[in-house]
Amino acid sequence: MRIIEDIAILNAQIKSWKKSHKTIGLVPTMGFFHDGHLALMKEAQRKTDRTVVTVFVNPRQFGPQEDLDKYPRDISRDTALAKAAGVDLLFCPSADAVYPAGYQTTVSVLQLSQGLCGASRPGHFDGVATILVKLFNLVQPDIAVFGEKDYQQLALIRQLVMDLNFPIDIIGHPIVREADGLAMSSRNKYLEGEERANAVCLYTALQHAVKCIRQKEQVATEDLIADLKIILHEKEGCKVDYISIVHPQTLKKKTIAEKGDIVALAVFINNKIRLIDNITL
Ligand code: PAJ
Repeated sequence: MRIIEDIAILNAQIKSWKKSHKTIGLVPTMGFFHDGHLALMKEAQRKTDRTVVTVFVNPRQFGPQEDLDKYPRDISRDTALAKAAGVDLLFCPSADAVYPAGYQTTVSVLQLSQGLCGASRPGHFDGVATILVKLFNLVQPDIAVFGEKDYQQLALIRQLVMDLNFPIDIIGHPIVREADGLAMSSRNKYLEGEERANAVCLYTALQHAVKCIRQKEQVATEDLIADLKIILHEKEGCKVDYISIVHPQTLKKKTIAEKGDIVALAVFINNKIRLIDNITL
């Protein structure tokens, strides 16, 4: 596995693969790998000749009060895991290489960036869209694999690729969960003791929503959200950031919840860690 930090060296490697007609799969990440990340790498590997994984904790997608400095990092562990997973190239540039002095450009996906996490994290999705456009240009992948865990991010990337004519097939991968249902996340590392046990309430609430729709087919969103809030607030230290029931493509809020809709939620655990999860009804 090649480990590259320098953009010029990456360009040369990509050029050489393109010359020999290798197909390229890209998995963008912020590192601190878990089985969710590794599943995306396996998927890219199955579908293409060369797998490129990027590790970059992108400062532009963190708000001023967010956890950029505290975000977990362990590049030697990530390197070992990526190597064992059969990744061909790990690209881990510095922030200065990605955003050199004088950098000016931002990419915005205007509508899909607005609700859900976009409402709680102003500017977050501009940061995400901007780094992904840069990575798509640098790596020129045939496919790029993203997790459904970040449902809004995936919807926004599909729109971005369509709007800007990137010839890239965007592959969504199902959420990889711990045995008790907690969605895997690099931020789970910060859950201690009771917090870790309580964090499963996100999945419990989502499962309740699925059960309701199985029983009744259609439910007033307002009532369902009220039920989910009760389940989430039963756990000590859990504070709901948002719960929304939205259309799977437009992400517009629904007044009646039905099969195929997405329930998306974000919850603070002990005012410390913000976890997100979602499920298709
Ligand atoms: P990060 O949070 O590191 O996630 C990298 C990829 O892994 C994303 O596509 C995310 O949806 C996926 N992922 C995370 N947890 C998952 C899980 N439990 N199951 C399946 N997939 C999972 O998302 C980002 O980084 C950044 O915003 C990025 C796209 C790299 C842009 O900076």
